[in-house]
Amino acid sequence: MTLRILTGITTTGTPHLGNYVGAIRPAIAASRAAGVDSFFFLADYHALVKCDDPARIARSRLEIAATWLACGLDPARVTFYQQSDIPEIPKLTWLLTCVTAKGLLNRAHAYKAAVDQNTQNREDPDAAITAGLYMYPVLMAADILAFNANKVPVGRDQVQHIEMARDIGQRFNHIYGKAWRAAGGAGEPFVLPEAAIEESVATLPGLDGRKMSKSYDNTVPLFEGGARATREAIARIVTDSREPGEPKDPDSSSLFAIFRAFAGDAESTGFRHELESGLGWGEAKQKLFARIDAEIAPLRERYDALMAHPDDIEDALREGAQKARAVAQPRIETLCRAVGLGALGTRTAKSAGGTKKGAKRARIASFRDHDGFRFRVFAEDGEELLLSRAYADPKTAGAVAKALASQAVVGTLDAVRFGVTVAGERVAESPVFPDIAAREAGVKKLHAALASLREGE
Ligand code: TRP
Repeated sequence: MTLRILTGITTTGTPHLGNYVGAIRPAIAASRAAGVDSFFFLADYHALVKCDDPARIARSRLEIAATWLACGLDPARVTFYQQSDIPEIPKLTWLLTCVTAKGLLNRAHAYKAAVDQNTQNREDPDAAITAGLYMYPVLMAADILAFNANKVPVGRDQVQHIEMARDIGQRFNHIYGKAWRAAGGAGEPFVLPEAAIEESVATLPGLDGRKMSKSYDNTVPLFEGGARATREAIARIVTDSREPGEPKDPDSSSLFAIFRAFAGDAESTGFRHELESGLGWGEAKQKLFARIDAEIAPLRERYDALMAHPDDIEDALREGAQKARAVAQPRIETLCRAVGLGALGTRTAKSAGGTKKGAKRARIASFRDHDGFRFRVFAEDGEELLLSRAYADPKTAGAVAKALASQAVVGTLDAVRFGVTVAGERVAESPVFPDIAAREAGVKKLHAALASLREGE
């Protein structure tokens, strides 16, 4: 089952060890699971809401992209891009803005907190609050709804935003569902996303025992400043005044908690015993540094290499944007037609978004990813209908793609997906549709696409 998982990273800061343990490491591990189609993006438009220092925004975009790549995010396997490289996102933001109740935005936690602060300070309630802060949830809804993401892994503070994305999506579906189908869309315009909160991922404590956070100034840098900066930060971890030889309480200092985030159970238990039997704090800090560095040093090497070649990072993000736009562009075109912004005449309507020559045909696009050689099948209007399994060599993948038009047998896999077999072998699956009706519309579209492929042969 292919679940589309999407998450954004606001590009305002420099990643620290807490980000690595709490977000980066688990997200990359999850992106390697089978049956997930992961979208990761740099939320650089969102960053502008929080920061008006251009140098800092630019630097942070570079650092965060390099960090995720260095930590093992594989751009061949996932879709990794910058929000600002996807013109469909601000387009969709406006369509969504026009169905969003102002009252809904009035209730957003971040906006309300800013108003409360102003009221407390006896200022005008909206003093220094930008329309960007106010509109933040709509932009975030567009990030998610543009790609029909099923799950959105976020921290607790973002759950309200996901609920708002659902509300906004639902409202749009209600108003424009019919028009969407009349415009050639399948099922509902938007899948309603769900927040996925990682309960098992611990928040890392900082140097002073509070949650590691830039706003507390208690962080251990991840790569910035090299091994030396990591060592210096660790030396500043707050401990009690027990001397070497005195038993320590491992649970009363951040030191042990940070160690545990990097070590297996057996190693952690060993370290606990050492502390309890009088290991000095100084020595304990050395051991903590060694443990962290064993994991981070090889990543840091990759990070430094990437930071030395920003053009390569740019290339990876550009490619990611192409992949992302292949999904978003046809969707936004249909959405525009649905709200009445499509072409005025039939001649142009046929070629909307297409080549100047006339109507677009269904098409098959081959590509290579982490698992091998695959292809996708797109409908005339650009909607993605099938993703093939991975083949070890491009020849086989090509032969299967070719056989599809004449030999494909379409069957449903479950309520929200269909699949295709060729000569009795499952070769491709559909994306996840919002409901049975949408799946059925998808099956119809696939039959039309296969017919159009046969014609083109
Ligand atoms: N607002 C999110 C944060 O601050 C970042 C973000 C922007 C995001 N767009 C998103 C997260 C879409 C998930 C999905 O953490």
